[in-house]
Amino acid sequence: MRIRGMALQFTITGVLLLAAVTAATELPIAKPGCQDRCGNVSIPYPFGTGEDCYYDSKFLITCNHSFNPPQAFIGKSDLNFTEITLDGKLRLTQYIAKDCYNRAGAPTESNTPWINLPPQGPYVFSDTDNMFVAIGCDTYAELQGFREDKNDTYVVGCISKCSNEKYVPNTCSGIGCCQTSIAKGIKYFEVSLSSYTNHTGIWEFNPCSFAFIIEEKQFSFFPSNLSDLKEVSEVPIIVDWSIGHNNCETLEKNKMSNACQGQSKCHDPENGSGYICKCLDGFQGNPYLPNGCRNINECSDPKVARNCSHNCIDTEGNYTCSCPKGYHGDGRIDGERCIRNRSSVIQVAVGIAVGLTSLLMGITWLYWGYNKWKLMKLKEKFFRQNGGLMLEQQLSRREGPVTETAKIFSAAELEKATDKYHESRILGRGGFGTVYKGTLTDGRTVAIKKSKTIDHSQIEQFINEVVVLYQINHRNVVKLLGCCLETEVPLLVYEYVANGTLYDHIHDKSKVSAFTWEIRLKIASETAGVLSYLHSAASVPIIHRDVKSTNILLDNSYTAKVSDFGTSRLIPLDQVELSTMVQGTLGYLDPEYLHTSQLTDKSDVYSFGVVLVELLTGMKAISFDKPEGRGIYRRIFFVH
Ligand SMILES: *[C@@H]1O[C@H](CO)[C@@H](O)[C@H](O)[C@H]1NC(C)=O
Ligand SMILES: *[C@@H]1O[C@H](CO)[C@@H](O)[C@H](O)[C@H]1NC(C)=O
Ligand SMILES: *[C@@H]1O[C@H](CO)[C@@H](O)[C@H](O)[C@H]1NC(C)=O
Ligand SMILES: *[C@@H]1O[C@H](CO)[C@@H](O)[C@H](O)[C@H]1NC(C)=O
Ligand SMILES: *[C@@H]1O[C@H](CO)[C@@H](O)[C@H](O)[C@H]1NC(C)=O
Ligand SMILES: *[C@@H]1O[C@H](CO)[C@@H](O)[C@H](O)[C@H]1NC(C)=O
Ligand SMILES: *[C@@H]1O[C@H](CO)[C@@H](O)[C@H](O)[C@H]1NC(C)=O
Ligand SMILES: *[C@@H]1O[C@H](CO)[C@@H](O)[C@H](O)[C@H]1NC(C)=O
Ligand SMILES: *[C@@H]1O[C@H](CO)[C@@H](O)[C@H](O)[C@H]1NC(C)=O
Repeated sequence: MRIRGMALQFTITGVLLLAAVTAATELPIAKPGCQDRCGNVSIPYPFGTGEDCYYDSKFLITCNHSFNPPQAFIGKSDLNFTEITLDGKLRLTQYIAKDCYNRAGAPTESNTPWINLPPQGPYVFSDTDNMFVAIGCDTYAELQGFREDKNDTYVVGCISKCSNEKYVPNTCSGIGCCQTSIAKGIKYFEVSLSSYTNHTGIWEFNPCSFAFIIEEKQFSFFPSNLSDLKEVSEVPIIVDWSIGHNNCETLEKNKMSNACQGQSKCHDPENGSGYICKCLDGFQGNPYLPNGCRNINECSDPKVARNCSHNCIDTEGNYTCSCPKGYHGDGRIDGERCIRNRSSVIQVAVGIAVGLTSLLMGITWLYWGYNKWKLMKLKEKFFRQNGGLMLEQQLSRREGPVTETAKIFSAAELEKATDKYHESRILGRGGFGTVYKGTLTDGRTVAIKKSKTIDHSQIEQFINEVVVLYQINHRNVVKLLGCCLETEVPLLVYEYVANGTLYDHIHDKSKVSAFTWEIRLKIASETAGVLSYLHSAASVPIIHRDVKSTNILLDNSYTAKVSDFGTSRLIPLDQVELSTMVQGTLGYLDPEYLHTSQLTDKSDVYSFGVVLVELLTGMKAISFDKPEGRGIYRRIFFVH
């Protein structure tokens, strides 16, 4: 029940809504509160059935309700009509003039219909929409008219003759049918017919003559009309109406601008008097009512909407076609239609290009960054592998004054300095690795010590050497300029000592002659000075642990430069001796240290003693080809 009730309510609401919508869309044609309809005939303003409803009394319409449906009459006349149009037309009907005979030629029926339009009124028979027609094969038709404005009666007519039906064509051309136009300004007319032979001889197919003024559009002639018109009594006729006697020009001159309402325009009826109003193109409604002309939504007409290639947009009094965003053009099917914007094409292209470029740049940047990161990781790995951390620890633990900061060389710098570690740059090889001669970019000649393998113990020695040399500032000690830990094997950079090792000068026969006693003494004293400095003058005592003739380098003025601190040890001040693993070179190692593994500075003194003996005798520390020389060291050798 409830649901049905609700459904009913909805239906009612829907119907009411629909009614409201229909009412809203239907434009008013009469003044508010005025009857706009009489039976089947609508009555638009300026016509009206009452005083407040018409423009003036000449537009009075009488609606007689005693007819069913009620009939509308012009004014107080007996002229009823079927339609009023706002473009100045009124359609009514008129009797046909007939002149009929029997087979014998005696007249049986005849009439002369007439219509008199109200005088002084706005009505006149339309000369453009009507014509005078006579139909028959023995017919003389006459039209008598009266033109009120010219006080002039005029008569026109036409004759139609034919002896046989077969000569009658389908057009109204003088055979069976004739027609003429009518004059302007006719307010009254009368139609009369006559015959020459009372239709004798043609009676079989044409017993009557017919004549009438008829709405041109409604008329078409057929040979059958020669007989069938007998049954027809009325034909439609058009009457023009207009307002007043002034034409538009005069109205404008007299500033009667309110004659036609908004969105409408004044028109002169064709050579008639007065004026009529018409809504502007794109508007419809009653131009005589205020706000009577309303915009037409052209787009709701599918025929018009089809003129647009995309969107139809209704405008006030017109419509336009529009294109979607990113398109231009008039959007008309018979025009440019819609064209994709070049700018948007360019925008899209530029967008894609920018996108691709930034993507490419991004990838490149990432790749570059990744490579850099990889290289950094590698360098970091090498740095760690090469004891960089150890060095950092050692240096941070170190006390005493910093003499000079060792420079950290880049791998590339040293590679360039040594001509990519070229064979010709090799100064010497040993268990520790290879020493290259290099030239730095600032022109300094340096010796670059490159570890042979990535053996951890060797790396420790490298770091040890760096740490030890860091403590030393002595002119008879080879100066450490810096190091490079970025490469796979660590590199140490020293000052370049040009004149080779002491060993070379003692044992090379070609050099011995120049190696005078003064020089030998100088070297001995300088080396002794270095050892003295290491053992007692350095901030932390240092034991060299590998004093030998190959580790004493000589420069051009035979100044001694003690080198190779790879195995040297720093001895804390409160300790006299240190337990270590035995390290050193056979022939220079002292037997006590070999036995006890207790390292003291005396080990260096012993080794220096061996060097002194070398300087004095020119003999090698260990000689296997001289049995008497072997005796001194046999014990050591065997023990080891
Ligand atoms: C009047 O209208 C009714 C219904 O709308 C129709 O049946 C009738 O034929 C019409 N009469 C005339 C004379 O147009
Ligand atoms: C309506 O028509 C009838 C019959 O033709 C006529 O007698 C009557 O007077 C008319 N009424 C008006 C108001 O004209
Ligand atoms: C006019 O009224 C008559 C009746 O009085 C009717 O027969 C005729 O059809 C009407 N004509 C028009 C055009 O309504
Ligand atoms: C034709 O009809 C008229 C009357 O309308 C008559 O006077 C005349 O004699 C008739 N003519 C013939 C040939 O019948
Ligand atoms: C119209 O013309 C007739 C004679 O043709 C004349 O008697 C009459 O007075 C004229 N009427 C007017 C209004 O001019
Ligand atoms: C002439 O005959 C045709 C066809 O029979 C018909 O449709 C037409 O209405 C007739 N003309 C007139 C004026 O009645
Ligand atoms: C009709 O009007 C035109 C101008 O609009 C004019 O040239 C012409 O002479 C007029 N014709 C008549 C019959 O008044
Ligand atoms: C309506 O617009 C079209 C072009 O869009 C133009 O050609 C036409 O003249 C316009 N009509 C009116 C009444 O403005
Ligand atoms: C639109 O289309 C109709 C029908 O296709 C055509 O007659 C008309 O000229 C076109 N243009 C306008 C502006 O309506």
